[in-house]
Amino acid sequence: MARISAVLAAVLALNPCLGAAFPRRLLASKIPTRDVQEAYDYVVIGGGTAGLTVADRLTEDGKTTVLVVEYGELSNSSSITTVQGGFMGMSDTELLYNINSVPQTNLRNRSIAVLAGKVVGGSSAVNAMMTVRGTAEDYDRWGDFFGSDSHWSWRGLLPYFKRALNFVPPDEDVAKSANITYDTRFWGNTSGVYAGWPSFQYPGTTAQLDAFRGMPGVPFVNDSGSGEPGVYWFPTFMDPKLVERSYARTGHYDNKAANRTNYHLVTGSKVTRIILNGTVATGVSFVPVTSLSTNQTVLPTNQTVLPTTVKARKEVILAAGGIHSPQVLQLSGIGPRKLLDSANITTVVDLPGVGANFQDHGMIFAAWQYQNYSIHPSPDDLFLNDTFAAWASAVWSANRTGPNSIAIGNAAAWLPFPVISPRAANLSAALAAQNHTAYLPPDTDPTVAAGYRAQMLALAAALTSNRTAFYSLAISGGAVSGGSLVALHPLSRGTVALNATDPRGSEPLVDYRALANPLDAAVMADMLRFTRAYHLANPRTAAWNATELAPGNATETDEQFVEYLAEALSPSEFHPSGTCAMLPRELGGVVDEELRVYGVTGLRVVDASVFPTLPGANTCQTVYAVAEKAADLIRYGPAGLLKD
Ligand SMILES: Cc1cc2nc3c(=O)[nH]c(=O)nc-3n(C[C@H](O)[C@H](O)[C@H](O)COP(=O)(O)OP(=O)(O)OC[C@H]3O[C@@H](n4cnc5c(N)ncnc54)[C@H](O)[C@@H]3O)c2cc1C
Ligand SMILES: *[C@@H]1O[C@H](CO)[C@@H](O)[C@H](O)[C@H]1NC(C)=O
Ligand SMILES: *[C@@H]1O[C@H](CO)[C@@H](O)[C@H](O)[C@H]1NC(C)=O
Ligand SMILES: *[C@@H]1O[C@H](CO)[C@@H](O)[C@H](O)[C@H]1NC(C)=O
Ligand SMILES: *[C@@H]1O[C@H](CO)[C@@H](O)[C@H](O)[C@H]1NC(C)=O
Ligand SMILES: *[C@@H]1O[C@H](CO)[C@@H](O)[C@H](O)[C@H]1NC(C)=O
Ligand SMILES: *[C@@H]1O[C@H](CO)[C@@H](O)[C@H](O)[C@H]1NC(C)=O
Ligand SMILES: *[C@@H]1O[C@H](CO)[C@@H](O)[C@H](O)[C@H]1NC(C)=O
Ligand SMILES: *[C@@H]1O[C@H](CO)[C@@H](O)[C@H](O)[C@H]1NC(C)=O
Ligand SMILES: *[C@@H]1O[C@H](CO)[C@@H](O)[C@H](O)[C@H]1NC(C)=O
Ligand SMILES: *[C@@H]1O[C@H](CO)[C@@H](O)[C@H](O)[C@H]1NC(C)=O
Ligand SMILES: *[C@@H]1O[C@H](CO)[C@@H](O)[C@H](O)[C@H]1NC(C)=O
Ligand SMILES: *[C@@H]1O[C@H](CO)[C@@H](O)[C@H](O)[C@H]1NC(C)=O
Repeated sequence: MARISAVLAAVLALNPCLGAAFPRRLLASKIPTRDVQEAYDYVVIGGGTAGLTVADRLTEDGKTTVLVVEYGELSNSSSITTVQGGFMGMSDTELLYNINSVPQTNLRNRSIAVLAGKVVGGSSAVNAMMTVRGTAEDYDRWGDFFGSDSHWSWRGLLPYFKRALNFVPPDEDVAKSANITYDTRFWGNTSGVYAGWPSFQYPGTTAQLDAFRGMPGVPFVNDSGSGEPGVYWFPTFMDPKLVERSYARTGHYDNKAANRTNYHLVTGSKVTRIILNGTVATGVSFVPVTSLSTNQTVLPTNQTVLPTTVKARKEVILAAGGIHSPQVLQLSGIGPRKLLDSANITTVVDLPGVGANFQDHGMIFAAWQYQNYSIHPSPDDLFLNDTFAAWASAVWSANRTGPNSIAIGNAAAWLPFPVISPRAANLSAALAAQNHTAYLPPDTDPTVAAGYRAQMLALAAALTSNRTAFYSLAISGGAVSGGSLVALHPLSRGTVALNATDPRGSEPLVDYRALANPLDAAVMADMLRFTRAYHLANPRTAAWNATELAPGNATETDEQFVEYLAEALSPSEFHPSGTCAMLPRELGGVVDEELRVYGVTGLRVVDASVFPTLPGANTCQTVYAVAEKAADLIRYGPAGLLKD
């Protein structure tokens, strides 16, 4: 049985559900399968975060024809729209794939719930709405794998971060009383996807952020979009007028695509393969989800469904996300030959990187409780103080304001490793000196191993840099701090592979290979030690009198932390990435700098799977920026890219 961590479950249980959906108007561009045209200029696989962004941009001219094929449906569920708590989407199984990871050897054989959105809008419809981006160094690292003049860099991506979101500043009074700072130079205001702010902040959030001043060397940053690590406030993927989730569908589909006759969306359809003529991608093939062999009530497995095939005159764009994009490539004969052979799939392009290099952020469950916390109102008062709770409900019902307009929060520390650990130089040297191949699966292709080594050398440098954040702690403002500690640059790499027993009927096999690289545990141990010090050895938090609920004072040595992590680590913060990496082919890459699949003509991948290394931040904002940039690469080529 897969399980979401007990701490997350507790957080979910604490938050009551509510929220009224606003009516949405009829959408003309969604068509039934029988109306699908024979050919489009572009066929986009997956109507998720990246897929809908690219489809919107490509159809803006009113001429270019695009078909988006999406597994999920258009859903008007209040689980999607509700912002309060930020957890409604991710706890609605109707909107998620049902995938459990391979049991994790280093985590006492725990199997992990693999969460990914299965609805128009993809994971942007179910995520926790944290709106953050990585540091400048995170994006410069991507380009460095290609050389010093790559357009994949902070400067090359900043114009697309600006295009990707519409930043609406917080209410002035709230900003003043909470001490929220921001700098609009790092933001744009044209996108249909909003970065908004709640109309209320708990005073404890400000105090707990300020308490980082008690920790030596901690930087403070004025804006979450500046590309620098530090303590900062960040916005929410929320339409500030409606006070509802703002996501790929509301920003790039509703009220836009629906008016374009050159844009078609077909839902409830699973792409089963990319059609190739030799090594040229010429179209896609898909079947209705209701016909899948796993749905025995609809169709006996011995009956074959005729797939719909549609031609792409210009290109096929694969945007099925970090879990499914590698699977679709593998099912189409593009992937590691040995794996494809095992499933009796003819190899068209032997591309060992497809499904390798799998990365996600590790969430470390640990908790501290303040015994002497007198800052009110606090999030706990929603459950402990009836007067406050009644006020919160009243202002929400009347005006959609107050605490219920907060998603998962807007404040966190994103800190460089030298700031949190006294042994940054030692761990950096140890990482550089490793026999990196030893931490990959035994039969890893040499090109993939070379890419892993290049990444580890880059991250070894980052461990001693003050411009890359390795550590993240989200701040709640309440008396309990737990479940909010994130390892931003995992060193272990997993795999996503088709299930050879039932390649087309089964979900892919997802293996995080958590803690495969032993230095991950050492890095996380130092993160826990620093967090312990923030709570227990910090003049700014002393008065609150914290006690450690977990891991507890019996956990001191690196060995004890490894034991604790085996029990308490979640290898996923639901940010699956890296499985179709943008890297040179000799480094195990799957796509080039223009996101074109190696060895194939007319096929790009545009989604989180192309990240060569994770940014040190939740991934959604980066997916939007990459998709905006991809749309320009597709329309205009590299010469037409925006420049900072
Ligand atoms: C529970 C959860 C919480 C998160 N919280 C945050 C957060 O707070 N902040 C943040 O920045 N990021 C967060 N993320 C991560 C972020 O949302 C994702 O990184 C991002 O949305 C991924 O975009 P994508 O385009 O790569 O994939 P997706 O948006 O997942 O899109 C992939 C689409 O492809 C479709 N698809 C897949 N296979 C097929 C097929 N064979 N045929 C047809 N369609 C297919 C899927 O149904 C889906 O719609 C969270 C993610 C999850 C799941
Ligand atoms: C508010 O921010 C300023 C600088 O940005 C800082 O000096 C001050 O301590 C902060 N005050 C509080 C109460 O957090
Ligand atoms: C990084 O920051 C820490 C803490 O302020 C400081 O001790 C260290 O010298 C800095 N390192 C570099 C390379 O600037
Ligand atoms: C879409 O079309 C409808 C009806 O023709 C119109 O009312 C609406 O303003 C249009 N929306 C956009 C964004 O063009
Ligand atoms: C495949 O490509 C070849 C060469 O361009 C072309 O002659 C042929 O018609 C194509 N076949 C199909 C089925 O499209
Ligand atoms: C299975 O079939 C039933 C009956 O048609 C349908 O309601 C249901 O949505 C299907 N389930 C899936 C996963 O397609
Ligand atoms: C499919 O299997 C069902 C149940 O086993 C059987 O009744 C039916 O005749 C089979 N159909 C075909 C086309 O073989
Ligand atoms: C493998 O594929 C070939 C060609 O499609 C087919 O003849 C053969 O039966 C398949 N073998 C298995 C084990 O599925
Ligand atoms: C409960 O909340 C109200 C409104 O915020 C506040 O005035 C009151 O002091 C609180 N009571 C306690 C016991 O904290
Ligand atoms: C809602 O807003 C209006 C107008 O600002 C205000 O008069 C009213 O008191 C608010 N309602 C509540 C319950 O706060
Ligand atoms: C590194 O590890 C690989 C895989 O375990 C092994 O084959 C190789 O001999 C090792 N290289 C060295 C120099 O130890
Ligand atoms: C792989 O597919 C087989 C056949 O459908 C299924 O029994 C098995 O559970 C699948 N494995 C995983 C890990 O999903
Ligand atoms: C801090 O909390 C502990 C545990 O509840 C308690 O024993 C101790 O007296 C408290 N100390 C202060 C100074 O409040």
